[in-house]
Amino acid sequence: MKILVTGSQGQLGRELAEMLPERGHKVAAFSHQELDIADPEAVEKALDVHAPDIVVNAAAYTNVDGCETETELAYRVNALGPRNLAQLCECQGSELLHVSTNYVFDGSSERPYEPFDLPNPISAYGRTKLAGEEYVMRLCRRWYVVRSAGVYGEGHNFVRTMLRVAKERDTLKVKEDEYITPTYARDLAGGIADIIENGLYGLYHVTNSGSCSWYEFARDIFTLAGVEVEVLPIPTSEYPLPAARPANGVLSNIGSPTLRHWREALEDYLRREGALERG
Ligand SMILES: NC(=O)c1ccc[n+]([C@@H]2O[C@H](COP(=O)([O-])OP(=O)(O)OC[C@H]3O[C@@H](n4cnc5c(N)ncnc54)[C@H](OP(=O)(O)O)[C@@H]3O)[C@@H](O)[C@H]2O)c1
Repeated sequence: MKILVTGSQGQLGRELAEMLPERGHKVAAFSHQELDIADPEAVEKALDVHAPDIVVNAAAYTNVDGCETETELAYRVNALGPRNLAQLCECQGSELLHVSTNYVFDGSSERPYEPFDLPNPISAYGRTKLAGEEYVMRLCRRWYVVRSAGVYGEGHNFVRTMLRVAKERDTLKVKEDEYITPTYARDLAGGIADIIENGLYGLYHVTNSGSCSWYEFARDIFTLAGVEVEVLPIPTSEYPLPAARPANGVLSNIGSPTLRHWREALEDYLRREGALERG
């Protein structure tokens, strides 16, 4: 397939740009500087020139707390960006795969969120991402929406932050009442490749398997990396942030490709980063 990837310098975009050619696809990968998805004329030009079979949108404004104050920018990138892609993909005859988030849910459920559960975002980031999903679903016929959670790869992420901060302090406090499934961007890219190769349109939840609190995630990062630091579990109320996060951010992968357990993926990631204790 001829695939156009947006946001190619992001955590997911990098993995897609590397993996899709390995799987035999012809890829045109665009960084933010090369293609601003919020600019409809630029999107139209890129689609005209490359005439892709499918666009994979890995571009987003992902600063969750920043979205609370930079709401207009968040809406332009997270909602109007996918709107532009959806409308122009429809005109061009291209399919669209759009990536979204577990933050479209409010986190009050007692069980993992199914793709057919009703979203109810509790942050500006979640609201703008949900608006983006809705544009995609309404404006083009051949769409895939892939929600993920707790993504880490080549970029700013929780794993790198923990390893950096542990060098500066002996004790760290990490939230124990917020649950996610940490998801390695490389595994997510593989799940996305499976989906577009299968060609069954619709809504997917793609994360690594299993779940944990941020506290358990931090503890496992340090155990695998052989870092000696005291990790103290705290409630969210002790670490207030501008944006609210869902207490339960775990997605059910029903009907979606099954990825390996998050702990196995984390070990692989740390090995690639040169941070695994046993090499
Ligand atoms: N990270 C997570 O924990 C997480 C969790 C669930 C879902 N997701 C979703 O997964 C997808 C990929 O996330 P990620 O972790 O790879 O994010 P990321 O590392 O922040 O990458 C996003 C990329 O989009 C680019 N971008 C921002 N505005 C753009 C615009 N107007 N036009 C084109 N590109 C633009 C950014 O470039 P600049 O940096 O130069 O602005 C960046 O390279 C997103 O849809 C995100 O909502 C992420």
